[in-house]
Amino acid sequence: MKPMISLFVTVMLISNIQAQVPIYKDPKQTADSRLKDLLNRMTIEEKAGQLNQLNGGFFTGPALNDPGQKAKMQMVRDGKVGSFLNVIGAKETRAIQEIAVKESRLGIPILFALDVIHGYKTIFPIPLAEACSWDLSIMEKSAGIAAKEASSAGIHWTFAPMCDISNDPRWGRVMEGAGEDPWLGAQIAAARVKGFQGSLNDAEHILSCVKHFAVYGAVEGGKEYNNVDVSRVALWNKYMPPYEAAVKAGAATVMNSFNVFEGVPASGNKYLVTDILKKKWGFGGIVVSDWGSFGEMIAHGYAADEKDAALKAILAGSDMDMEAQVTIKNLAQLVKEGKVSMQAVDDAVSRVLKMKFKLGLFDDPYRFSDEAREKATLFTAANRAEALEAAKRSIVLLKNEKNTLPIAFNGKKVALIGSFADSKDDLLDFWIAQGEAKNTVTLREGLQNRFGNAASISFAPGYGLDGVANEAMIKEAVAMAETADVLLVNVGLSGKMAGEDRALAFPEIPAPQVALLQALKKTGKPIVALVSSGRPLILTAIQPLADAIVQCWILGTETGNAVADVLSGAYNPSGKTVMTFPYAIGQIPVYYNAFNTGRPIPEGTDPGWKSRYRDIPNKPLYPFGYGLSYTSFTYGGLSLDKNTAGKNETIQVSVTVTNSGSVAGEEIVQLYIRDVAASIVRPVKELKNFQKITLKPGESRTVKFILLPKDLSFSDAAGTPVLEPGLFKIMVGGNSRDVLEKELTIK
Ligand code: GLC
Repeated sequence: MKPMISLFVTVMLISNIQAQVPIYKDPKQTADSRLKDLLNRMTIEEKAGQLNQLNGGFFTGPALNDPGQKAKMQMVRDGKVGSFLNVIGAKETRAIQEIAVKESRLGIPILFALDVIHGYKTIFPIPLAEACSWDLSIMEKSAGIAAKEASSAGIHWTFAPMCDISNDPRWGRVMEGAGEDPWLGAQIAAARVKGFQGSLNDAEHILSCVKHFAVYGAVEGGKEYNNVDVSRVALWNKYMPPYEAAVKAGAATVMNSFNVFEGVPASGNKYLVTDILKKKWGFGGIVVSDWGSFGEMIAHGYAADEKDAALKAILAGSDMDMEAQVTIKNLAQLVKEGKVSMQAVDDAVSRVLKMKFKLGLFDDPYRFSDEAREKATLFTAANRAEALEAAKRSIVLLKNEKNTLPIAFNGKKVALIGSFADSKDDLLDFWIAQGEAKNTVTLREGLQNRFGNAASISFAPGYGLDGVANEAMIKEAVAMAETADVLLVNVGLSGKMAGEDRALAFPEIPAPQVALLQALKKTGKPIVALVSSGRPLILTAIQPLADAIVQCWILGTETGNAVADVLSGAYNPSGKTVMTFPYAIGQIPVYYNAFNTGRPIPEGTDPGWKSRYRDIPNKPLYPFGYGLSYTSFTYGGLSLDKNTAGKNETIQVSVTVTNSGSVAGEEIVQLYIRDVAASIVRPVKELKNFQKITLKPGESRTVKFILLPKDLSFSDAAGTPVLEPGLFKIMVGGNSRDVLEKELTIK
C-alpha cells in the first residue's frame, strides 16, 4: 500500500506546490489571465501604489541609513511604489527590485525610469544638434545605443523623445527637441522612438516617452513653465504632428506637460489625454505626469486641493503620478466616495502592469540589472565612434569667407582662444544621465589629438568661465594672436545653460566675448568663431567679426574630435539648422513657416506700411534649413510630372543638383509646398520631404520626390486633414530661403 500512498502524497504535494504559484507569476499562463489574476488580488492601496512614481537615489551602502530613502523602501515593501526615476545602475536597481519582489505582499516588480535624453554614459549631441544632421538613421542609432547602455544599467524607461515644437531660442529646452518644423519633427520623433524601443522584446531596449504632451514648446516669451495659449488650428498643424508620429511609431508612454491648454492643465486635460491621445490616436500605454504636475494643478488654479488634483488627473486619463504623491494619498478615498470608479482605477493600473509584463519583469525582475553586462556595455569604443559620427554631422557651417575653412593644419600656428574650449565642465548640458565631464573631449584636446604633432597649437582663455572678460585676458589673447596664422575663437554659452529652467531673456553672444572678438579682429588674422550653445544665439554682433562661423551646439563625449575633423576638412560639414537664427532678440519668434500676413514685403518693393520692424531687416540672420559645405551645390531643372492634378493623384517632383565645387560633399535637398489660398491661411512654406545626397565634385544627380495628397493637406480645427482645390507652389532648395519654384493646381 505504501507505494500507492507515497504516489498519492507526491501527486498531492506537486499539485499543492503548483497551486501555490499564483497565475500572475506563472509564465505558462496567458498575459490576460495573469493580469486579471493580479488585479483581483490587489487592494485599492496596492493599485494606487502602481500609479505612484517616486524620485529615487542610492539605496545601498550608506544610503540605507538615510531616513528619506528608508521611508521610500518601506513604501516599496507596502506595495505603494510602482516606479522610481533616477535610481542609477544595475546594483542599485537590483537592490530595490529585491525588496519589491521578495518583501512586498504581491511581489510586483518596479519600473525604473531615467531621463536618457541624448545618451546614458556615452553622450551624443543634444537632440537639437543631432536634428541638424537630418540623418534619421543616425538619430535612430544613437537612441538605440543610449537604450543599450541604459538597459544594461537597470533602466527600463526613458523620458524621451521630447517632441515639443518651438521657435523661441529664449526657451532653454529647445535643446531637447528637433527644432521648429512639424514635418521634420515628426520624422525625427518616430526615429527616436524606434531607436529606444526596437520591438521591446529584449533587454537592450527601453520604453520611450512622448513628451511633453502637449504644446509645452509654445510657452509665452520662451519663459520656462509659462502660460501657453494657441488655437486649435495651430495645435493641429504646428504642434501635434511630432507627438502623433511618435505615438503611431509605437511609443509605450506619454508624459503630461506642465502647461495649460485652453486654460486646463495638461495633466487634467481630458481633451488632450483622452479625446486626442486615446480615442483619436488609439494610444494604450502609460500616461505619466511631469514632475509634480498633478499637484501643480492647485497652483494653476484648476484643482482645489490634492484630492481634487488626483481626481482631475485620473478622470482626464492620466495614470502615473510622478512625485506629487496626490494619487497615493487620495485614490482609495475617491473610490470610496464613488468619485472614481474601480474600473477607471483598474484601467490605469492595467496600463502600468502590462508594461511590466511586456518587459518580462514578472518572469525575470533582474534581467536589466546585471552588473557584468553593465560593465561590458557602457562607454565602449564602438559607442564613442558612433557618437563621433553623429557629432560631425550635427555641426552647421554658417559662414566661410576667404576660404578660411578648411584649415591645412600642417606647420600652422593655431591660436585657440576661449575658456570653454578647455573646460570639460562646460561642454555638457543639463540632461546627461550618467555622462561625465571627465570623459568629454574638449576642443583643445580634439585639436591636440588630431594635429598636436603637425601644428603648433597655443591656448588663451580670452574670457572667464563666468563669461566675463577683462583687459588682461584680452591683451593676452591678442598677443598670442599676433604670432598665429589662424585664430579659433570658442564663444557662446556653457552647456550648463542648456535645458530645463534655462530660459534666457538675452540669448546672445555675451558682450565680453564680442569685445574679445573685436580686439582680435584688429590683428587682421583669419578668425573662425566656434559657437557652443544649446540654442540658436543671436550672432549678429559677431557675424562681421569672424571670417567663418561654425555652430558647434553641444556635441557630447566626442566634441573636440568632431570639431577638429570638420575644421580640417576630414569631414565636410553637412548640417543644416532646424531652428531659425534670429537677427535680433526683438525679432523672436521668427521662423520660416510663417503666415504671409495681409501686408508682406515682396522682394524689391517699398516696405512702407508693411509687416516689418523699422530698426532691423525683415529677415533672420540664418534661415531654417541653412548650412554651408566646403563645396557648393547648384539646383536646376525643377519639374513636375503634371501641373494640374486631382485630389487623389500623386505628383512627381524632379530637380537636378550639381556639386559645382572642388570636394565631395553631402547636400540636404529640401522640398517645400505652399497652399496659396485656402479656407484658413497657410504658411508661405511647409517642409514636406528631403533627401540627403552625396555628390563628387562636378557630379550631377536628378533627385525625385513623390508628393502625396496628404502632403498638400492641412488640418482643420478638429484635427481632420483637409485638401482643398486651388493653386499650390512647389519649391525645392538647399535651405528654406533659396528655392526653385513651380506652380501646381489641384482640381
Ligand atoms: C522634469 C522635466 C521632464 C523630465 C522629468 C523627470 O521636470 O520637465 O522632461 O522627464 O522632470 O526628470
